[in-house]
Amino acid sequence: MLRLTNRQILLGITGGIAAYKSAELTRMLKKAGADVRVVMTPAAAEFITPLTLQALSGNPVHLQLLDPEAEAGMGHIELARWADLILVAPATADFMARVAAGMGNDLLTTLCLASDAPLCLAPAMNQAMWRDQQTQLNVQALQARGIQLFGPASGEQACGDTGIGRMLEPEALLQAIANQFDYDLLNGKRIVITAGPTREAIDPVRFISNHSSGKMGYALAEAAADAGAEVILISGPVNLHAPAHVKRIMVESAQDMLDAALHTADNCDVFIGAAAVADYRPEFVSTNKLKKGKEESMEIRLIKNADIIATIAALPNKPFTIGFAAETNDVLNYAREKRLRKQLDMIIANDVSIAGIGFNSDENQVTLITSTDEISLPQTSKRQLARQLIEHIAPHLPTTR
Ligand code: PMT
Repeated sequence: MLRLTNRQILLGITGGIAAYKSAELTRMLKKAGADVRVVMTPAAAEFITPLTLQALSGNPVHLQLLDPEAEAGMGHIELARWADLILVAPATADFMARVAAGMGNDLLTTLCLASDAPLCLAPAMNQAMWRDQQTQLNVQALQARGIQLFGPASGEQACGDTGIGRMLEPEALLQAIANQFDYDLLNGKRIVITAGPTREAIDPVRFISNHSSGKMGYALAEAAADAGAEVILISGPVNLHAPAHVKRIMVESAQDMLDAALHTADNCDVFIGAAAVADYRPEFVSTNKLKKGKEESMEIRLIKNADIIATIAALPNKPFTIGFAAETNDVLNYAREKRLRKQLDMIIANDVSIAGIGFNSDENQVTLITSTDEISLPQTSKRQLARQLIEHIAPHLPTTR
């Protein structure tokens, strides 16, 4: 649900039995990456506690228009400007009538009047109230002003009636909100991403590898696919499922990864090397398991692997090439030098000496370096970071290739 990442959603809740579903909607919006602020009418607070919504949204709940404390924090006009979208769910017949009449007699109606953000209502009421002539006139008036209605659905009602008037389920509302935001940043683009470690065999049962979990590369593949790209993920051995709509090629060694990269990089628009590729491999791979000898030490001679990303960057019809630089010291200088040496369009500097980020963690913090810019992205989940990276990468791509 990439379209909701960092979107600022103002969720209004009015007094109806369906208000309890808005708690689940808040949780789902947060999970999809949205920043959620909840505004409740006094009647809504009779059905569900503001504390529940505060805990789920991670923000204070706004209750009253004339609240000096709230105004000292985020005032109602600021709140109206803050919103990328306002959804009122549930929207009662009374609330819809007041919005249709242009009233501003509580905080939520005032925000609807004061905001330029798209306004969406999820009606919830008894079927007879929904069918009432005045309600239907209000619906027409609201729609004529560009206000969108999500639902209502038909079915069994809390009052025992059956008919139209049920609020849409949270999943359907989440999708309807996401549909309000265009997210086609990488439509028509073909992206190849490497992820995870490589394994360099010593004998049939032993290998040289590293701690890469593949999470960063897989998060990038997911974010790129969500942004509309055709994604090929070349993955070393990891314990992760392939993200939806991503074609995955599993490999073991650096040589396998190079072969897959050369096979797929032709005609791709972007190549991202998030894999932790072994720089060296054993010169000889024993066909049988090596036996423990009497000697106290043994030597394995290593030879250099090909540099996959540098090979791709040197192709005549090279894609926009992005590498990662995993460094433990003097991170930015080494990353800048690596970008130039490997002739990359962009490098993502990753300080892997900091606990909790980098290898095998759920979070990361990076600096994105091009020939003209250096942008530092603060610590966040790899999934969130991947979405931000896609947003930074997209403007660098030509519209046609
Ligand atoms: O997989 P995770 O647990 O989520 O961890 C993520 C990560 C730390 C592995 C990832 O964010 C990262 O930094 N990946 C690059 C790791 C690395 O090998 O960095 P490097 O500085 O050694 O290599 C620089 C670039 O050259 C990388 O894009 C790498 O993929 C590429 N490379 C390196 C060697 C080689 N033989 N071929 C390559 O293409």
